[in-house]
Amino acid sequence: MCGKCVLLLQLLCAAVAGCGAAGRDYYTAGVVEFRPAVSGGSSEQLLEENLAAYLELIDAANGTADILIFPEGTLNSQLQLTAVPAPSWRSLCHIVVAPVDGVATFLRHLACAAVAAESYLVLNVKERERCDRDADCPPRGFRLYNTNVVLDRSGAVVSRYRKWNLYLEPQLNRTPEPEYAIFETDFNVTFGHFICFDMLFHTPAQELVERYSIQHLIVTKMFKSELPFLTASQFQQGWAWANNVNLLAAGASLPHGGISGSGIYAGRRGALVRRMVGDTHVGQRQLLLARVPRYPQLEQELGPELELDVERAGPAQRQLAMLQQPQFEDFTSSLVPLLNGSRQQQRLCQQDLCCDFELQLELPGDATQPEYSYRVGVFVGQRRYEEEQYSVVRLCGLFACRNESVYSCGQLATEEAAEPAANSRLVAFSWLRIRGEFVQRRRQLLMPSTLSAALYALQATEFEWAWLGADSAVTRVELKLRKTHTQLLTFGIYGNYFDEFADDGLPGGGGGGARGVAVAMPWQQLLMLLLLLSYHGG
Ligand SMILES: *[C@@H]1O[C@H](CO)[C@@H](O)[C@H](O)[C@H]1NC(C)=O
Ligand SMILES: *[C@@H]1O[C@H](CO)[C@@H](O)[C@H](O)[C@H]1NC(C)=O
Ligand SMILES: *[C@@H]1O[C@H](CO)[C@@H](O)[C@H](O)[C@H]1NC(C)=O
Ligand SMILES: *[C@@H]1O[C@H](CO)[C@@H](O)[C@H](O)[C@H]1NC(C)=O
Repeated sequence: MCGKCVLLLQLLCAAVAGCGAAGRDYYTAGVVEFRPAVSGGSSEQLLEENLAAYLELIDAANGTADILIFPEGTLNSQLQLTAVPAPSWRSLCHIVVAPVDGVATFLRHLACAAVAAESYLVLNVKERERCDRDADCPPRGFRLYNTNVVLDRSGAVVSRYRKWNLYLEPQLNRTPEPEYAIFETDFNVTFGHFICFDMLFHTPAQELVERYSIQHLIVTKMFKSELPFLTASQFQQGWAWANNVNLLAAGASLPHGGISGSGIYAGRRGALVRRMVGDTHVGQRQLLLARVPRYPQLEQELGPELELDVERAGPAQRQLAMLQQPQFEDFTSSLVPLLNGSRQQQRLCQQDLCCDFELQLELPGDATQPEYSYRVGVFVGQRRYEEEQYSVVRLCGLFACRNESVYSCGQLATEEAAEPAANSRLVAFSWLRIRGEFVQRRRQLLMPSTLSAALYALQATEFEWAWLGADSAVTRVELKLRKTHTQLLTFGIYGNYFDEFADDGLPGGGGGGARGVAVAMPWQQLLMLLLLLSYHGG
């Protein structure tokens, strides 16, 4: 069915301006970093403000974008629910006096905006699905989902995805089976999409790449960053890199809550455009546009129309209230001695993972205390996010600490009252190489996890990743700095082993047990995703 409608759209396209991307080796996409209205009005007024700002941002693209993506949880609240029809030909952009299908007016407005801008729109809404005739319907008479809806250039729904990996969203429902949301476009690019927390799991995000061979992924996010390995843009870029796919990520912008981070990443080429709001407590409303290569893989030459983002080592951003990796006491780590100019080597092991670190650093000329201490460390253990969801993580890396205590790692240095010599307090790494031997598992994703003081990952011009060979037991990986870096916060190899101990075929945490895992985690709760629900609740 979908194939047919795509064909027809392509025929229509021949006659319509704005569909020109079909013949080129790139398309134009926009992701929006968006501060939702969270106070100062009724839920109706907040929705109106969000909608008006969405429409303004769509206008700001001047009809140049093939697709525009808005973040998770920044439009309607649970008090302003909407139905989201299954994909069909029917445009949602028409005036109906008494909507019987439950589609809210704001969604119709946005459908008309899609028509006016001739753009696909990816939106995230709180969806209400009537179910009063079903036996398993909740007592309230409807199901409530965290839903991505994709509108095409005619304002019709072409794809709908209901979030599978819910995070601290107890009021929300889950579909009985995970949905694999895939849609084709009139510019001949096939996208898969998912929501925020999904990106840490195999189902459905990783499966879209591995099982369905999707090379263009979209994620809507409200992600709370965690230092030193899981800040938003760093994780997006690492994920796109590891999967060698394009990733279009739109993030909610609430930096006082640690939430920010949007960007468009072109696999191993690196970031095309990105934004972490860390220089102010106030969230931003910003459209980031980029030309995106149709073929993310490196073998395809990048056309002259395409531009990568610059290297962003600094300036340091310090205003984002981030979480801190909660398990540093379980790391095997070692303080890096501040030896000026001499090559240092270190081998660290934990359980089944051994890593070799080789580095050389240069200290500033005057004898002031450097802004950060550094540690190298290895960790193998379980990362539990929710009652039945966890990942097994294997990682090794270098990371910045406030002082010699391991508990100060993953905290940002505060700005000195007078910072005359900030630059003179930076440790320069002129050589840094990490080699790890990672056990092979059926489900695993090994990614570079790098971060500068500006809160962006390093670009491909700044580091090198090499597979040194694999056998059935281990994968050997090398991560190396390409040139001197003076504002490093993190430089590591992050292995997400997903639900390593889950029973086959069971999505999510499966049995949820800790079989074979020596480190059992009492903590949970941390990481990601505040609920806007609570802001909107009143
Ligand atoms: C849209 O048009 C305005 C006014 O002509 C211009 O300033 C702006 O740069 C344009 N934006 C894009 C994304 O083309
Ligand atoms: C669409 O993409 C497919 C697969 O990448 C390619 O074979 C085909 O030629 C493309 N069609 C157009 C019209 O670009
Ligand atoms: C470290 O070495 C560099 C280059 O040799 C030198 O300029 C600098 O003064 C040294 N720093 C310290 C603290 O000794
Ligand atoms: C290290 O820094 C932390 C704050 O990050 C502080 O609480 C602790 O007292 C410091 N320890 C030392 C030994 O300075």
